[in-house]
This record gives sequence, structure tokens and C-alpha cells, in this order.
Amino acid sequence: MSTHPSQIAASAIVDRLPVTLPRLAEMKRLGEAIVMVTAYDFPSARAAEEAGVDVVLVGDSGAMTVLGYPSTVEVSLDEMIMLARATRRGLRTPFLVGDLPFGSYEISDEQAIATALRFVKEAGCDAVKLEGGGETSCSRARAIVGAGIPVMGHVGLTPQTATALGGYRAQGRSAAGAARVAAEAIALQAAGCFSIVFEAIPSDVAGLLMERLEIPVIGIGAGPATDGQVLVFHDLLGIREGLGARFVKRYASLQDEMVAGVAAFAGDVRTRRYPQPEHGYSIDGRELAGLRERLT
Ligand code: KIV
Repeated sequence: MSTHPSQIAASAIVDRLPVTLPRLAEMKRLGEAIVMVTAYDFPSARAAEEAGVDVVLVGDSGAMTVLGYPSTVEVSLDEMIMLARATRRGLRTPFLVGDLPFGSYEISDEQAIATALRFVKEAGCDAVKLEGGGETSCSRARAIVGAGIPVMGHVGLTPQTATALGGYRAQGRSAAGAARVAAEAIALQAAGCFSIVFEAIPSDVAGLLMERLEIPVIGIGAGPATDGQVLVFHDLLGIREGLGARFVKRYASLQDEMVAGVAAFAGDVRTRRYPQPEHGYSIDGRELAGLRERLT
């Protein structure tokens, strides 16, 4: 009898130790693929925990996936902290990274450190992520690392500054553009980042950059050469309208299932098929008679 992959995952999780920075470095060294997903609340965190995911990112993509904003730009630091706190409560073993929202780290190194500290102290995050690899982002990364908080970088398509990049489009598709992505990734590594996300860059560019980076690289739309892969929880489970970016692979269609479930409930209520006797509570006949007397 063959073993279903979910059974392997379930048995491996029982004794799983919390994922640490040395463990992530070891995974890179051993060529073990690093699995990262986003999560924004208790149920998505429980799913990541039970599936044996290595790294959970409370992404600012939550602005759109769970808060309904049109982009990641609008989400506030307080909202991100609230999502991160709920996620923390659902996790035991994955390494937890909080995404610094737009406007919460650009002004100064001091602002960046104060924001990162909130993710660690108030939400229990193990690390933070920031976007971009220019001078400002590298200075912020260096400052946060200097304050004792691990930092994950993010280059390529950086949604917080999508307008400046010309929209939500792949980056590094020219020699000059790819060299810029390379310079940013190398600068973030030099600034002390423990890992970097490559988003929406050509697979061949990612492949070339991998030879120059010692820290684990997690790809999203960056091909197979990176040390690990990340997808947005709602994209991979189909909790959204539309198909999303070309790099998204759908593993379920939960939005359709949720609509069908709620529609079935609505149908049962309207036709009075719900609730049935087994969904209600009983009262002893004498108690009911006593109530009747009191009400007359
Ligand atoms: O916010 C997010 O979900 C992200 C991932 C796409 C890496 O930054």
C-alpha cells in the first residue's frame, strides 16, 4: 500500500523542532528545499503548521487578501501587528517573519528599528522582511540587524513601490535591469540579511545570482534555482477571484467551496431544512410545564 504525501507530512511533524536561522542555513547547505507560505490569522497559521511549512511570512499581501485594500500600500503598522499576533498564536515550529508595511521603515533607521521591535515584542515574530535593495533599504536592514533582529530582504518586483517600477511586472528582463537586481541582492546580503526573496525575475537571472549568494534565497516567480519557494496562501488555495500572476499554482479552489457552502446554508434556511432537531437543545418536560405556568 502506498503512503499518501499528507501522511508523510503528518508523521514528520509530530517531532518537528522549531525552525531556526542555523537550520535554514543548513537546509541551503544540504540542498533541502525551503517551503515558505504567507499567513495572516489563526486558521491559516494552523494550516501552515500542520502542513510542516518551514517559514511563515505575515505578508503585507494581507492588505489585499484579508483586509480588502486595493494594494499593499494602504495597510497600517497596527493592522500588520494584529495579523502577526493572530498568526503567532497558530504556530509552534515554522520560523515567523513579519513584513514591514510601506511607510513604517523608510523615514529613518530609528523608525525602522522601532517598527521591527514591535513585530518581535508585540507579535512574537522571529524576523522581519523589508522591500528593496537600494541605499535606504540596505541602511534600514543594517540598522535592524544591528539591533539584534534578523532581516529578510526582497528584490525584483517589490509591490510597495510597484508604481515606481512601472506597475506589477517582472523585473530584471534587460541586462541593466538584471544587474540592478543583482547589485541589490548582494548589497542586502552584505547588510546582514539572513535570506532574500526574489520576486518575478527571469529564471535564468535567478540561476546566475544563486552562484553569488551565500544566504538562502526564496523565490516567487523566479524559477526553480532558488533555495526555496513561497506562495501567497490565498493564491495557492484559490481563496480569491481570478487566476493571479503567472507564477501562481493553484492547489485548491476554496473560494468556490466557501461560496457553495454558504449558498447551501442559505438554501437550507430559506426552505426551513435547517435547523433539524439534532441541532437544538432539549428541556425536561416538567421544567417546560413549569415555564408555561410562569408565563400564564
Ligand atoms: O507580502 C507578501 O506576500 C510577500 C511575498 C509575496 C513574498 O512579500
